[in-house]
Amino acid sequence: MEKRTSFSSKFGMLAAAVGSAVGLGNIWKFPYEAGANGGGAFLVVYLICVLVLGFPALITELSIGRMAKTNSLDACGKVSGRKGWNFIGYMGVFSAFMVMCFYFVVAGWSLEYICQTFASSTFRDMDASSLETLFNTFAYSSRRPYLWLILFIIATAIIVQLGVQKGIEKGSKILMPMLFLIIVILAIYVIFLPNNTEGYQFYLNFDISKITPSVILSALGQSFFSLSLGLGTILIYGSYMNQGNVVGTSLQIALLDTLIAVFAGFVIFPAVFAYGIAPTEGPSLAFIALPAVFAQMPGGTFVSLMFFSLLTIGALTSTISLLEVLTASFADKFHISRQRSNIIATMLVIIGSCLCCYSLTDGSLFNFCGKPLFSWFEDITSDYLLPLGGMFMAIMLGWAVSKEKLRTAMTDFGMKPWFFSIYLVLVRFVTPTAILLIMLRQSGIL
Ligand code: PHE
Repeated sequence: MEKRTSFSSKFGMLAAAVGSAVGLGNIWKFPYEAGANGGGAFLVVYLICVLVLGFPALITELSIGRMAKTNSLDACGKVSGRKGWNFIGYMGVFSAFMVMCFYFVVAGWSLEYICQTFASSTFRDMDASSLETLFNTFAYSSRRPYLWLILFIIATAIIVQLGVQKGIEKGSKILMPMLFLIIVILAIYVIFLPNNTEGYQFYLNFDISKITPSVILSALGQSFFSLSLGLGTILIYGSYMNQGNVVGTSLQIALLDTLIAVFAGFVIFPAVFAYGIAPTEGPSLAFIALPAVFAQMPGGTFVSLMFFSLLTIGALTSTISLLEVLTASFADKFHISRQRSNIIATMLVIIGSCLCCYSLTDGSLFNFCGKPLFSWFEDITSDYLLPLGGMFMAIMLGWAVSKEKLRTAMTDFGMKPWFFSIYLVLVRFVTPTAILLIMLRQSGIL
């Protein structure tokens, strides 16, 4: 087995963790979930979920990783001293695989749209319906999505192969500042669009009557998905973390990730309303409505290029962290080299993603109860598996580790005594109860 590597600097660790968190979840999924779930109402519930559940869950997952210093499969067993808790790790590896299966498909779409922008006559002067045809023809009945997703997977595998420090850290250091810059420019750009007021109203108007159990579940799932929680990516980064303050790091990850998602909303909703496109467009919002927006904007080709580059950069830093979960787990578990483990993980993900991609085509065999495999994987992971993973981690750390041991560890990781008392209540009672209640309520049991 190879020696465990670790991050060379605090910034490297933070950049990699923020890179994992910021991705398609912020820019593709958050706006369409917000659009489909009532705009302002979703935004408020989402922010509460991040603060009350996501932030403590980040602390929990980073701490488990840092205490265990092992792969995500064995971490919970090691920290609690009871192997039975390792089921959380196995569940996480399974979730990471499922997330990658649909995530790479969308990441591939973003690559296609960078190329479409270069052939910029494609977007120019097209209306929403011809852009919809363009998207459907490409995504649902051509071979190109397979090509792009395989390319994306191989690029990810190469970066993961370069190793923790050289690959992930270096990559994030270059990619993250670029990402921030592009989104800020876009948000400023749309302020000057005519007729954008309704977009700001939709996004910022809080209507309490729009909060339903399903809106709450979507917001909870979205917060865990966006923060990369519940499946072991954050745990792995914690295990590579030798220095730095866990609470401070979690706060920075949560703040930056939330800021980007909220900013993405500030880019998309004003623009979408300015051009009369439905915010409830669904998963295709970014790929149908936005090019329509770009097509009508002065300088649209440039904006489009920036937007889809942003999406691709964000997706790449997230897929790196997802593939790392499988690579590190297989290597430690089967005592094989990282390289071999990476190749096995890559092959599995290529098969899974191609199936998800195929499930979107008309008349596909992988369509169950009227829903493609792609959407099943998306809903099952983000609405259920990730929050449940986070819930079990909280129960494990809060109840299976003695209070004194936890206090010592947390103090070592930089947690102030007054915050420890609050954290203990959150991790022992609030996180498990809230997640369980939200799920039972949504499933109609309560
Ligand atoms: N948080 C990532 C995003 O927002 C997706 C992700 C989920 C990455 C879970 C790792 C683990 O795009």
